[in-house]
Amino acid sequence: MKLTSLFWCSSLALFVGFGCNPPAEKTAEATGGASKPVAANDIKLGYIVKQPEERWFQIEWMFADKCAKDKGFTLLKLPAQDGDKVMAAIDNLNAQGAKGFVICTPDVRLGPAILKKAEGYGMKVITVDDQFVDADNKIMANVHHMGLSADKIGQLSGQTLVNMAKDKKWPMDKVGVCLVTFDELDTAKTRTDNIEKALLEGGIPKAMIFHAPQKTTDVPGSLDAANILLTQHPEVKYWLVGGMNDTAVIGAVRAMEQRGFTPETCIGNGINGTEAVEEFKKAKATSVFSSVLMRADEHGYKSAEMLYEWVKDGKEPPMDTRTEGLIVSRDNYLAKFKELGIPIE
Ligand code: GLA
Repeated sequence: MKLTSLFWCSSLALFVGFGCNPPAEKTAEATGGASKPVAANDIKLGYIVKQPEERWFQIEWMFADKCAKDKGFTLLKLPAQDGDKVMAAIDNLNAQGAKGFVICTPDVRLGPAILKKAEGYGMKVITVDDQFVDADNKIMANVHHMGLSADKIGQLSGQTLVNMAKDKKWPMDKVGVCLVTFDELDTAKTRTDNIEKALLEGGIPKAMIFHAPQKTTDVPGSLDAANILLTQHPEVKYWLVGGMNDTAVIGAVRAMEQRGFTPETCIGNGINGTEAVEEFKKAKATSVFSSVLMRADEHGYKSAEMLYEWVKDGKEPPMDTRTEGLIVSRDNYLAKFKELGIPIE
């Protein structure tokens, strides 16, 4: 199921829909004097995320919480940065009587083990953001998933980079691309493969597109990856920077700044919007020019809602739900975030 139209064509309406008109939490007043909410308050559901320090996941949790409040169930939020923590989190959820969980796993290869454990406890599972893979490294399409349209998002990011280089009137034969990659993760590889495709279509020669593989998907991971690349290519005078998310681009840009590159000689476009905002807020523009804004709020709310309806009413969610994004930059992010109801601290 494509949620594009749902999210973007009527995003304002949707925000008004769930922001101002909370659904079915029936309170004592609403139900004529019962002392407790009569909605499914016995239902407990888990929400496990791989990187609780990343704003993307904080917003997912925030809106999953909102869903729990709206519907009247209990949400148990658990961070799990490695496999042991994931397994302990599922045991913990079972001990607390949870009937299922949404998960963005720290390692997609844990998929079969996570599923086995969940099935053993009779829990329902929805993956969010990152899809499980099986022992042959194939996506486990039998697990219900909510994620982004990685190919379209990648294309948009790549096109944006090409346009920015053209706007800057850089000599195209002196432009290099630092593409921060993390090929172990399907959604990351699809994003960066499509960034590259759009760059090639936009006229950047293949020989000038350099991959910088991240060991970890955070700012230190991309900073290290870009530093290696920069040491190998001192001849490049203008850099475009792309990657699977905002932190991939922010880390690489930091590495470039340390070597004297400025917004006049280095420009990056992220994906998520949630972390790039910190760059847009800075008084002085950085090389993180823009980002494809994705809906962490929708991912959080919708994945929790789908799990809740599945557990409570047996309403099975679609197998695959995808979202799309739009470009935000320093110039328009405040208006866009406000319009879409995405919180900014
Ligand atoms: C992955 C990334 C996150 C975010 C989500 C979006 O999990 O690590 O930063 O981009 O995908 O689905």
